[in-house]
Amino acid sequence: GSVFSRHAPLNSTFMSDGGKNTSGRMWGGRFGVSPAEAFGRLNASIPFDIRLAAHDIRGSVAHAKMLGAKGIISDRESATLVSGLETVLREVESGEFAWDLSDEDVHTAVERRLKELVGDVALKLHTGRSRNDQVALDLHLFAREKAERIRSGVLAAMHALVGLAETNKGLVLPGYTHLQRAQPILLSHHLLSHFEAFRRDLRRFEAAAEAANVSPLGAAALGGTPHPVDPRLTAQELGMKPFTNSLDAVSERDFVLDLLYACAVLGVHLSRLGEEWVLWTSAEFGFATLDDAYSSGSSIMPQKKNPDAYELMRGKTGRLIADMNGVLITLKGLPLGYSKDLQEDKEPLFDAVDTVLALLAVLPEMLRTARFHKGLMAGAAGGFALATELADFLAAEGVPFREAHHAVGRLVRRCEELGVSLEDVPQEEFAAAHPALSEVPEGLLTPRGSVQSKRSAGSTAPGSVDEQLGQAKAFLETVEGYSEGHLSEGSDRCV
Ligand code: ARG
Repeated sequence: GSVFSRHAPLNSTFMSDGGKNTSGRMWGGRFGVSPAEAFGRLNASIPFDIRLAAHDIRGSVAHAKMLGAKGIISDRESATLVSGLETVLREVESGEFAWDLSDEDVHTAVERRLKELVGDVALKLHTGRSRNDQVALDLHLFAREKAERIRSGVLAAMHALVGLAETNKGLVLPGYTHLQRAQPILLSHHLLSHFEAFRRDLRRFEAAAEAANVSPLGAAALGGTPHPVDPRLTAQELGMKPFTNSLDAVSERDFVLDLLYACAVLGVHLSRLGEEWVLWTSAEFGFATLDDAYSSGSSIMPQKKNPDAYELMRGKTGRLIADMNGVLITLKGLPLGYSKDLQEDKEPLFDAVDTVLALLAVLPEMLRTARFHKGLMAGAAGGFALATELADFLAAEGVPFREAHHAVGRLVRRCEELGVSLEDVPQEEFAAAHPALSEVPEGLLTPRGSVQSKRSAGSTAPGSVDEQLGQAKAFLETVEGYSEGHLSEGSDRCV
């Protein structure tokens, strides 16, 4: 279940004391009354930032240890805080942890629970810290974890593509320009083209994880703290680098943008791949059929088998782009130092990573279980899709390419007049279009002959594609962080 179903007190009263009691609030001292209920609802981030609870606790453990190590609190107090926080973490993980709208945000909720468990020593935890560096840290930890997880999802898709390219060696289909049949290409070449896009995505997610791997703890509200905190110690405990400038540490959300950008570009790649499969699985193309497990039917038309998952790859990319735009717009013109606007960074980030992970969770198996229709693919790759072959043949015979292009163009027009395709046109028409065309070698005018004729590096020729495939496999062998089934692990949406 989600946080919302388990504890959702969304319709509970914001404060049960009628707004008189301000003592339970982190910042209650300065205020005569509690917030108005409507304001409380607007201001609270707890309904969504509760999913940062585990990260928040990890950060607090690191902070409490550092406070002890630096003698800011006693070793005993530090140990009590750490063990209390570990109990809170267990409660979060088991789903026992109950939050209330009056907690305002996850930081308050965790601290409130800690105080219930360990008593007044909990009041010392926030020494030398602000929610401003705390929330920034939580989000850094979240972004680092998700960037790494998405990266392994991309790797899984790359493994699937390489597998398909390997098992379908030799299949040809038309390559398209303007969505018009252009030239035959090998299916493996096409699949490895998506592999290259994912390879770049992988780097983007690695960079996003790296950008997230900075600890803002010790920046406090914005200008540091008089307590002798050690940001290096907390950073080290979390496996992160410490911040450099305290004002930047609490103000910047570049790491959020980096991850959102990586998600948006990956989404664009998935949407293009998805669109191709929507076309390929249509009756008009007939190149492939999806496994029943990855398609759905129509409630009215019994014959329908719809490629919903690929449509959703296309469709959900809209929100990935919007999530990135939303945060960019929130940040634009924001003065340095924390502003409540920054609370708006979380939901788009959560949405983007959840969306991308949901898509990546289906893609590899959906690719693996699809069937290709060799004959229909090859059939579509013949005919006029071979015209460039003739022009290139003439050019190789010494005919200037422009002249060759023109001659073959005449032949194509002649075929259209006769209502025949290139393979079926009478031999004398070839010679009429250009004398040298009477010597076209046997086999060139076939999809197979066409791909085999390619000589340039990175081309669709079988040798070249084999090389690309070998290189792709070697790459996957050197790259770390992939394990089968990784993506099916539980998600933190269930904390
Ligand atoms: N809920 C806040 C957020 O998500 C936490 C930081 C609050 N800081 C503050 N100074 N009010 O950004």
